[in-house]
Amino acid sequence: MQTKRSSIDRVHPETELIKEGAQLLAAGELVAFPTETVYGLGANALDVSACAKIFEAKGRPQDNPLIVHVCNRSMADPLVKHWTTAAELCVQHFWPGPLTLILPKTALVPDIVTAGLANVAIRIPSHPVALRLIQAAGFPIAAPSANLSGKPSPTSGGHVWRDMKGKIPLILDAGVCQVGLESTVLDVSGEIPTILRPGGISKERLETVLGEIQVDALSDHQVPKAPGMKYRHYAPRGELLLLSGIRERVVQRMGQEIQRGHARLKRVAVLCTIESAPFLHNQLPDLLFVLGSKDRPEEVASNLFEGLRLCDERGMDLILAEGIVETGLGSAVMNRLEKAAGKRTKYI
Ligand code: TXA
Ligand code: MG
Repeated sequence: MQTKRSSIDRVHPETELIKEGAQLLAAGELVAFPTETVYGLGANALDVSACAKIFEAKGRPQDNPLIVHVCNRSMADPLVKHWTTAAELCVQHFWPGPLTLILPKTALVPDIVTAGLANVAIRIPSHPVALRLIQAAGFPIAAPSANLSGKPSPTSGGHVWRDMKGKIPLILDAGVCQVGLESTVLDVSGEIPTILRPGGISKERLETVLGEIQVDALSDHQVPKAPGMKYRHYAPRGELLLLSGIRERVVQRMGQEIQRGHARLKRVAVLCTIESAPFLHNQLPDLLFVLGSKDRPEEVASNLFEGLRLCDERGMDLILAEGIVETGLGSAVMNRLEKAAGKRTKYI
């Protein structure tokens, strides 16, 4: 399939391009589009065969459900059986924005979208292109992140192009996504709101509105409530070692790992904060990527996937990533890094 990659204005999306995207979606095709978090791979959420194409294009396991994107509350209502008080509060305070709500679904939502679960994941994105596209389509759009399954999520049109060219007809390219990490997935179907995936809205911010909430602590034996969380996600090709703790120790350990890697003819990358970078330059890693300041987790969040993808492009065999403090978006950053590291996380 020929893939068209069209530049679209982030703030004032060109009407013609929006129309083209909406028409493809209505015809049961896939369209990649920007959101404020990451790019989505969209299909008509009410069209079973269109949704099936998403799983095929991504190579996504069938048991991993999709987030449904809507442009306003009245598009969401027919999909949700019952809105809890917590859900209503979230809608008021955080929509449009990087928060996905898990709520009981109606029969209108096809099983393929929820992977047979009784609940549906739903959000209103805040990106003007996403909003205009959904509005023009007139139906809800199911969209996972527009990466190949298992790869880091795409935060630029170029990332989508590399993963999806030849597989989908259209990529709407509005440049870089601001948040750079996926939405927070919050289960508000029950008594106590529970974070199933940390993301663009921090736990602290949710708690200012909802009071104390829970975080779903996944153990290896549990069936995860957000099925996607069980896969080794966000993973670059190279092996990733996550090092957290006192800067001097982290820097020293990275130096040792660089030497050890080089002795084994490995190409070694470092992903670190701007504060640590001066101490790592002279250790001569093959790639040094600065994620941002340790005091600005949202900056680290917005650069993380670009850094992981760059490691792949440059053929890195070993990636040494510096951990950050888990406040604000820091907990979402650490969640993604821990997943990318698999079991290779060290607190020193
Ligand atoms: O920011 C985002 O959330 C992006 C943009 C495109 O909106 N989308 C995204 O989708 O990250 P995806 O498919 O990569 O991740 C969706 C996560 C998965 O972990 C999935 O298991 C979970 O949400 N999820 C979806 N539907 C669910 C449901 N009904 N119950 C529990 N978890 C669900
Ligand atoms: Mg994803």
